[in-house]
Amino acid sequence: MNPEYQSILSVLKQERGIDFSGYRPGMIARRIALRMQAAGLSRVEDYCAHLRDNPGELERLLDCLTIKVSRFFRNPLVFEYLARHVLPRIIQDKSRGKDRSLRVWSAGCSLGEEAYSLAILLTEHLGKEDLSESPVIFGTDIDASALQEAEKGIYAAESLKEVKLGLIKRYFTPVGEQRLQTVQGSEDARFRISPEIRELVFFSVYDILAPETWAPPESVYGGFDLVSCRNVLIYFQAEQQQRVFAKLYKALASGGWLVLGESEAPPLEYEDRFVRHTDSCRIYRKR
Ligand SMILES: C[S@@+](CC[C@H](N)C(=O)[O-])C[C@H]1O[C@@H](n2cnc3c(N)ncnc32)[C@H](O)[C@@H]1O
Repeated sequence: MNPEYQSILSVLKQERGIDFSGYRPGMIARRIALRMQAAGLSRVEDYCAHLRDNPGELERLLDCLTIKVSRFFRNPLVFEYLARHVLPRIIQDKSRGKDRSLRVWSAGCSLGEEAYSLAILLTEHLGKEDLSESPVIFGTDIDASALQEAEKGIYAAESLKEVKLGLIKRYFTPVGEQRLQTVQGSEDARFRISPEIRELVFFSVYDILAPETWAPPESVYGGFDLVSCRNVLIYFQAEQQQRVFAKLYKALASGGWLVLGESEAPPLEYEDRFVRHTDSCRIYRKR
């Protein structure tokens, strides 16, 4: 990475307490270059001064660095596999055991699409089962403004493109005038997640690289049956990826399930602590 960019990262650390030094240099350089171009500045020192003087630009840079691309049921095969092979096992184990609380963590949940997708999937599967307690889904992200949006639970039609119509009808209501049929049709249509799903998910700011803790403090003790950490590790350097894995390993209950993004895998040191469950997607089980 251009060493000059360190001064920009220092401003972010000072002003927002977020440390981007462990992210992939290429990604950081490309994103900073985009913002500098948009601001019409070619010298790093000028952009640094601009950043210090304009809180709005600080927000825009943060937004640009925390790439929040997501959607409901992103990569539907993963959710299909979870529904058919993973959730029935988790639910069966839970309904037989003493500990009947089912705990899920969506780490790096962006605007909440992934956390809500998991809540929908669980609700569909728990219909006939008695767990005596509702499942709890923790959605965490480093970006506080993303989580504020997640809490509202309102989404553009675009982010629902991969949701089956039956699920849209059950778990979303159109905001304003539009009708459900407009999901495929109108770019302006917006949909609100149902209260039944909304109340299963707890959002909190959590830096997955934070050295002091190994699970979101709100979850109290981790012990997750399922952790989804998809399309987050790809932004980190090898050392930070290892740090995250140490965390995920500890945060998972014994025999817990881990879902990664399509181009993510456990680092070498962790390969024998997880069993890959299928070749079709990145679903692992803690040994
Ligand atoms: C591409 S999105 C992935 C969203 C979702 N998991 C998915 O696969 O659709 C990456 C998310 O990781 C978050 N993120 C980046 N660095 C993080 C960190 N250190 N701790 C927690 N979240 C982080 C970003 O804010 C962003 O929302």
